[in-house]
Amino acid sequence: MSIPSKQNPTFGKCENCHLRPKHRDRAWCERCIMVWKRKQKITERRAEREICRLVEPLYWKARIDELPEKAQRIIEELKSFQDVLFIDPIGTGKTYAMAAMIRKYIYEGYECERINFDDFCVQVRSAMSPASKKTEWEMIEPLKHVDKLFIDDLGLRSKQETDFAYVTFYSLLNKRQERMLPTFISTNKSIDRLAQAFDARIASRLQTAVLIEMGGPDRRTKQ
Ligand SMILES: Nc1ncnc2c1ncn2[C@@H]1O[C@H](COP(=O)(O)OP(=O)(O)OP(=O)(O)O)[C@@H](O)[C@H]1O
Ligand SMILES: [Mg+2]
Ligand SMILES: [Zn+2]
Repeated sequence: MSIPSKQNPTFGKCENCHLRPKHRDRAWCERCIMVWKRKQKITERRAEREICRLVEPLYWKARIDELPEKAQRIIEELKSFQDVLFIDPIGTGKTYAMAAMIRKYIYEGYECERINFDDFCVQVRSAMSPASKKTEWEMIEPLKHVDKLFIDDLGLRSKQETDFAYVTFYSLLNKRQERMLPTFISTNKSIDRLAQAFDARIASRLQTAVLIEMGGPDRRTKQ
């Protein structure tokens, strides 16, 4: 029997995700097996601790069933490799929706990471100092293969993003798309304005993302 390989991708595909080659002696790929194992082991305590690590206290309790119905439906129908772009005005609940998705995915056994884009760029830049404990590579690399990556507040700057921010975002998105791993992005900008802030290569890669619009007014003004 021949061994499933990258040269022969239609043979021996994972029967769960239909994306990656299956494990040598199992019907699923290694990633799907890991998610399944994580789900078996997850306890409420462990899941809640992980949610607290990833999500700020204001959003700890966020749940999918509190989101607008249209957003709930889109999230339910998402394919496992699809990127998502939350494009909406200020205060409409983008960060809240991401927190609700993180909660859902953690309980399903997925590994998630969340970054605030500008903060992350500052952190990676600080890794260039000799005193830093982590290298740039060590900070960016794990985000390229985590199951689900959430990037909050992309393109906050009003003018051109720095070359550094561009390279960081491009390398993350490009590598994740090549690996068919989803990235969930929130922004106050349209794809056209993101194209101006970054460039056409990024805009092109964002065209394939599923758009989720929360709609409604700025929820902060109601508080
Ligand atoms: N579905 C919801 N149910 C209850 N409260 C919500 C919901 N969505 C958002 N909120 C609350 O509304 C406020 C604004 O939400 P959030 O921070 O998610 O907005 P945002 O779109 O991320 O804003 P910004 O563009 O400024 O980042 C928060 O206090 C949040 O807790
Ligand atoms: Mg936000
Ligand atoms: Zn799989």
